[in-house]
Amino acid sequence: MAGRRDGSLMRDKGQSVRRSRILVAIVIGVLLGCVFAFLFPHGLFISDRRKQSRRIGKSDLKMGISSCESPERIDMLRSDISSLSQRNSELSKQVKDLTEKLRLAEQGKDHAQKQVSVLGEPHKAGPFGTVKGLRTNPTVIPNESVNPRLAKTLEKVAVQNELIVALANSNVKSMLEVWFTSIKRVGIPNYLVVALDDEIENFCKANDVPVYKRDPDEGIDSIAKTGGNHAVSGLKFRILREFLELGYSVLLSDVDIVYLQNPFDHLQRDSDVESMSDGHNNMTAYGYNDVFDEPSMGWARYAHTMRIWVYNSGFFYIRPTLPSIELLDRVAIRLSREKAWDQAVFNEELFFPSHPAYDGLHAAKRTLDFYLFMNSKVLFKTVRKDAKLKKLKPVIVHINYHPDKLSRMKAVVEFYVNGKQNALDPFPDGSSW
Ligand SMILES: *[C@@H]1O[C@H](CO)[C@@H](O)[C@H](O)[C@H]1NC(C)=O
Ligand SMILES: *[C@@H]1O[C@H](CO)[C@@H](O)[C@H](O)[C@H]1NC(C)=O
Repeated sequence: MAGRRDGSLMRDKGQSVRRSRILVAIVIGVLLGCVFAFLFPHGLFISDRRKQSRRIGKSDLKMGISSCESPERIDMLRSDISSLSQRNSELSKQVKDLTEKLRLAEQGKDHAQKQVSVLGEPHKAGPFGTVKGLRTNPTVIPNESVNPRLAKTLEKVAVQNELIVALANSNVKSMLEVWFTSIKRVGIPNYLVVALDDEIENFCKANDVPVYKRDPDEGIDSIAKTGGNHAVSGLKFRILREFLELGYSVLLSDVDIVYLQNPFDHLQRDSDVESMSDGHNNMTAYGYNDVFDEPSMGWARYAHTMRIWVYNSGFFYIRPTLPSIELLDRVAIRLSREKAWDQAVFNEELFFPSHPAYDGLHAAKRTLDFYLFMNSKVLFKTVRKDAKLKKLKPVIVHINYHPDKLSRMKAVVEFYVNGKQNALDPFPDGSSW
C-alpha cells in the first residue's frame, strides 16, 4: 500500500519537474533575449544586419536601419521586453493552473469516473443488480481567500490534499506528546496540530511538529484557552470548515489516540464522512435490526428498529464536499444554541432522516473497520483476551472509553510497539468510576 502511494507521489513529482523545466527554459530564453537586445541593438553579426532586421518583425522594419541607434528604438525594445515578460508571467500562471487541474483530476478520477454516468445525462436504470446510486460527492472548488496563511501551511504539510488534524491546548500536553511520537514513529508526514495556546505552539515547534496557531478571534478564543473537553470539541467544527473550504480532506483526530500504521493506507474515500465507531462488534459497529417487544399488541407485538452505535466524533475522515461542510455548520450551529454533547449532535445530524418540518442531511457515510480503527472498549474487553485478535495490529487505538487515558496510551505503545505482552494486563475492562 505504502509503495502505491509513494509511486503516485513520484509520478506527480516527475510531471511537475518536467513542467517546471519547460518553464525555466522559457524564462531563460526571454531573459537572454532581453540581454542581447540591450547589448547588441544592431544584432549579433553586423554582416547579417539585413537578415536580422527582417526577422525582428513588422514594427522594427518601419523604423528602418538608419534609426537603429535612436533612443526611440531603445524605448521600443524596452516596451517589447516588458510586454514579453508580462506574457511570460501570464503563461506561467496558466501552466500553474493547468498543473493544479491535472492533479485534482488525477486524484479524483477513481471515484469520479465511476459516477460520471450518474451525474451526467439522464439515463435509463440498467439491468437488475448493476445499478448504483450516487455516493461520492464532488469536492468543492478551493477558496484560498478564506485563510491565505492556513492555505500556505497546508500546501507544505498535506500529501495528496489530505492530512491529520488535531486541536490541542496545554491541558492535553502529555497526551499530545504520546500522540505525535507515535505518528513520527510510523513515519506519517502529513499531520498538523492546531495550537489553541502559546504553550502548545512552542511545545510543537520545539519538537519539530507541524503546528498552526489561529489568528486571534474573539469568542472562539476564550473557549479555546479555558474550555474543557466538550467546549473545545464544539470549536473544532468551526475550525475544520476552513480546511475543507481550502479543498483539503481532513482526518480529524483527538489526541488520546496512538497511531500504529498509516491511516491513509486504510481509507476508501468514497463517502463524505468515514468514521471510527464506538461499537464493539459487527452488530453494534455496522448496524442491526433490534426487535422491540410489546406483548400487549398481541399478533403485532414485535416492532423492528434500526440501531447502530454512534460514530466517534474524535476520529473521522471528512472530504471537502458540500454535504460535509453542511454537516460541520449544522453541528456548530446547534452546539452554539444548545447545551449538548458534540458527539450526540454529530450523529443526530448524520443519521436522522428528513421528516415533517425537518430536512435531514444527505451525506454519504462509511464505518471504518472496528478492529483496525480500534476503540479502547474493543481492546480491553475483547482483543487483549483473545489469542488470535491479540496478534492483529490495529491502525490506531483510541482511548475513548477510559478516563485514565495517558497510562493506557503508554500501555498500548508498550504492547504493540515494544512487544511487551503483559503491558495491558494491569488495567480493568472498564473504569471503576
Ligand atoms: C471566498 O472566501 C471569501 C472570504 O471568506 C468570501 O468573502 C468569498 O465570498 C468566498 N468566495 C466564494 C466564491 O464563495
Ligand atoms: C463480522 O463481519 C466481517 C465482515 O465485515 C466478517 O468477515 C466476520 O465473519 C463477521 N464476524 C462475525 C462474528 O460475524
